[in-house]
Amino acid sequence: MTDRPPEIHEQRILGTELLWAVGVGVLVAATLSVVVFTALSRDINPPSNVERIDPKTLHLSGEFAEHNLGTTVGPDGRVTARMIATQFMFVPRCIAVPSGRAVTLRFASPDVIHGLLITRTNVNTMVVPGFVAQVHTEFTRDEDLLMPCHEYCGLGHSEMWATVQVMPDDRFKPGPDGRVSCAQR
Ligand code: CUA
Repeated sequence: MTDRPPEIHEQRILGTELLWAVGVGVLVAATLSVVVFTALSRDINPPSNVERIDPKTLHLSGEFAEHNLGTTVGPDGRVTARMIATQFMFVPRCIAVPSGRAVTLRFASPDVIHGLLITRTNVNTMVVPGFVAQVHTEFTRDEDLLMPCHEYCGLGHSEMWATVQVMPDDRFKPGPDGRVSCAQR
């Protein structure tokens, strides 16, 4: 401490505080404007589907029972792929999807928080137990895409990944039950 009068000392503290407050304010305003700008102009939004599911019973019945997992084509032609993210694998390990068509991906977790992204696409979501994670997308190239878990979920996290097999639309043929599986390559 110097022997300056205390009022001057306090003035300096106030000045520094105001400077920091303005700096933080500018940062918050810039962040918010980027969020609003990308949402309005480029249609980029965080996943916002709020749909609850009981993680303790999701494998017993309902849409995430084993026989419902994988890709289905509804009577109206809508393509939906369902997967369970669990320690430490995706079930099924591969999903087939058509290219150039709208696809809905739905995920659920019975244990801990997982996450996933599909390489070379904009698909990226967390899978939180208790909620269904849903992503609408359209695949543009016919190729096998890697889908790793990107949320640390335990010792086997680095071994947890699946494949998304994108098929040309003319090869994407559902069976009589409306289901499509990955082709062996
Ligand atoms: Cu599942 Cu990391």
